[in-house]
Amino acid sequence: MFETKSGIFLIAGLGFFMLAFVVMALIPISIYSGESEQSVEEIAADGLTHEFVDLAERFPEKFNEYFGKPDPKSYAVALRRGHKIYVGEGCWHCHSQFVRPVSNEEQRWGSVSYASEYENELQRPVLFGTRRVGPDLIREAARRSNDWHIAHFYEPRYTVPTSVMPSYRWFFDDDGYPNRDGMSIITYIQWLGSWQPEYPYWTGEGPPPALKADAAPDAAGSEENV
Ligand code: HEC
Repeated sequence: MFETKSGIFLIAGLGFFMLAFVVMALIPISIYSGESEQSVEEIAADGLTHEFVDLAERFPEKFNEYFGKPDPKSYAVALRRGHKIYVGEGCWHCHSQFVRPVSNEEQRWGSVSYASEYENELQRPVLFGTRRVGPDLIREAARRSNDWHIAHFYEPRYTVPTSVMPSYRWFFDDDGYPNRDGMSIITYIQWLGSWQPEYPYWTGEGPPPALKADAAPDAAGSEENV
């Protein structure tokens, strides 16, 4: 076998395959197998997003039928379903979930991604994505209102006339209100990045803090407000 060229290539090929398997599979497994990973229930126990509660207030009957009350239990159900839809619909073909430390990406999407953000059940399978036909979504929480997402999923051209994103009419009932899948995907999208310390106004697009409680009229022209 070692006398022929093809025999040497065969052995070399198998050798490199084994080496790659050890380096890229066995060693990482042995390093990371002890790492803890947050379950969806643990994520939900940390608190609900404003947008999940907003869905319950906006569509009380349907929300009650699909999820019951807005509490950690129903939040976990909606998150898990929304995540499954995101994977199943192939949203990751067009959207990444990773703010890279290059090209000033943090100016557009918020802070660069860090490891602990991905140590949870909702990142299995890993949804970093490779293509960006649409924008990165890992800092999407509270960037848009639920209303915006409803119009956008129904027909992306309603909110962004030049959009190439497909419309997702099956997220809606015949009356045009979001159905169980619609509310779940919005819940999931509005969760992405909600763990950021600056949430919900990290984009700088929300009302400045001064305007939330005692409105200070002169804060209106301040820099954060631009
Ligand atoms: C064919 C590629 C494509 C697919 C598939 C796709 N999108 Fe998009 N998406 C885009 C493009 C392009 C934009 C930017 C224009 C716009 O806002 O519609 C976008 C925008 C968005 C935005 C708005 C981001 C922002 O704040 O501006 C969200 C949220 C979103 N997509 C979620 C989804 C979800 C969830 C799915 C799967 C159900 C999905 N997309 C599937 C291409 C895609």
